[in-house]
Amino acid sequence: MRKIPRLFQMIGIILLIYFSFIVLFDYLLDQVIPSSLLRMYMFFIIAGVVAVFTFTEGSTEELLAPIMEMMENPEKRKVRNAVLTVMPILVGAYLYSQMVPSVEAPVELRSIHPAPPSSVKLFGKRYNLQTLVNPLRKYEKDDPEKFRELVREGARVYIENCHICHGDKLDGQGLYAVRLNPTPLNFRDVGTIAQLQESYLFWRISTGGPGLPDEAAPWISSMPVWQDFLTEEEIWQVILFLYDYTGHRPRTWEE
Ligand code: HEC
Repeated sequence: MRKIPRLFQMIGIILLIYFSFIVLFDYLLDQVIPSSLLRMYMFFIIAGVVAVFTFTEGSTEELLAPIMEMMENPEKRKVRNAVLTVMPILVGAYLYSQMVPSVEAPVELRSIHPAPPSSVKLFGKRYNLQTLVNPLRKYEKDDPEKFRELVREGARVYIENCHICHGDKLDGQGLYAVRLNPTPLNFRDVGTIAQLQESYLFWRISTGGPGLPDEAAPWISSMPVWQDFLTEEEIWQVILFLYDYTGHRPRTWEE
């Protein structure tokens, strides 16, 4: 039996390891492997395999023998011409496929509810969002009459400042909403304030679009910075109103 040339042995081993990775991750573990990580693995694997195959001068010569044979042996002219024609075409096609602009829309991975910072500076004071509670929430139990009064105040703040974007039914369909992207959020939807704590709303309302952290890129939210226009009390009141009107309950830590 003729021995497989060492060059093809080496290529075979590298391909075998490559496909083992694919089988292991895609089929056995059912996990996607990031292409950057796979590239990194393969870099070290190829480097290792090449090091083994070129360990001595003799083995290096043996490894390169088929290439030298093809390039130097006059009888291999046809093979040589074919390889030297096909290789540049393949490389060119690969490069072209990498460079050609894609017609797909760029992905915008905007995070709608980015994780809040643990502490923020609002109204010139430092607040810990993990422990901050709505100071007006206690009246809901202690003094329902006063609570209704505060909700009414919140409604006033909302109608004066927020309804042009978030809508007079709090459904995100305000007068300006059609032209905005990202659109103002619909507070009646279970995916918005029903998921959030009051301290989160306090942070988002006070700092608006410009206060969004990195993962909310591309920071094109039109949500204004309300700490420049409203008082702290007014923001807590409008938060009471948002939950009262929609019938949602704010998330709390106790749950
Ligand atoms: C100019 C239009 C505009 C006005 C006015 C406006 N908002 Fe917004 N608001 C937005 C947009 C757009 C978003 C969605 C993008 C984002 O999260 O920043 C948003 C998001 C929010 C969020 C985040 C909700 C969530 O689920 O993460 C809250 C809370 C909020 N607004 C409250 C208010 C309150 C309260 C007012 C009035 C004091 C107000 N907004 C006024 C445009 C506006």
